[in-house]
Amino acid sequence: MLHHLAFALVLAPCAFAAPVSNVAAATIGKIRGVADPIYHLYLQANPKNASIPVLGPESSAQTFTIGSTIQSQNTSAYLNIQTVSTSYKPLVWGKSAETTAWGLEGDTIITATGSSYGRQLNFLACKSTESGYYDLYLQTGSDVPSGKTCSNYQTIHLPCLC
Ligand SMILES: *[C@@H]1O[C@H](CO)[C@@H](O)[C@H](O)[C@H]1NC(C)=O
Ligand SMILES: *[C@@H]1O[C@H](CO)[C@@H](O)[C@H](O)[C@H]1NC(C)=O
Repeated sequence: MLHHLAFALVLAPCAFAAPVSNVAAATIGKIRGVADPIYHLYLQANPKNASIPVLGPESSAQTFTIGSTIQSQNTSAYLNIQTVSTSYKPLVWGKSAETTAWGLEGDTIITATGSSYGRQLNFLACKSTESGYYDLYLQTGSDVPSGKTCSNYQTIHLPCLC
């Protein structure tokens, strides 16, 4: 019986995340890139500036509560999308949940179809000023920040084993 229960708990987040986006209930997990140059780099804060979300080493990965908001269990900060006119939207860690557009599609982080962004799942990953880290921008078009080295059409995911 105990064995059964443990098994169910392990499988639950993956099964739960599969069918719908932007559900009210939350999923818990780390968030990571899956393609070069951010392959298996994990979402966290810039070590020199806690307001800047970056992808970086697994050893400093944060864990998130993911629903229509994304909140770090480590810092309590919320992942917000900045309002800018460019098609690349910088992400920022905030004390309040200004962005309620997040959702999951399978293990993929998206903005929900019904949100002001529509369904987006692409991000720009640009080399941070901190070596080994990458800044993330929600990618809603083809603009790129000038003077930065970026990779487009990146997606970020729960490291779901199912
Ligand atoms: C941290 O980054 C934010 C966003 O780029 C910037 O506005 C702020 O001045 C930075 N803070 C420090 C201490 O560098
Ligand atoms: C973040 O919190 C999780 C537990 O929620 C913990 O396993 C992880 O080590 C923490 N990460 C850091 C960088 O402290």
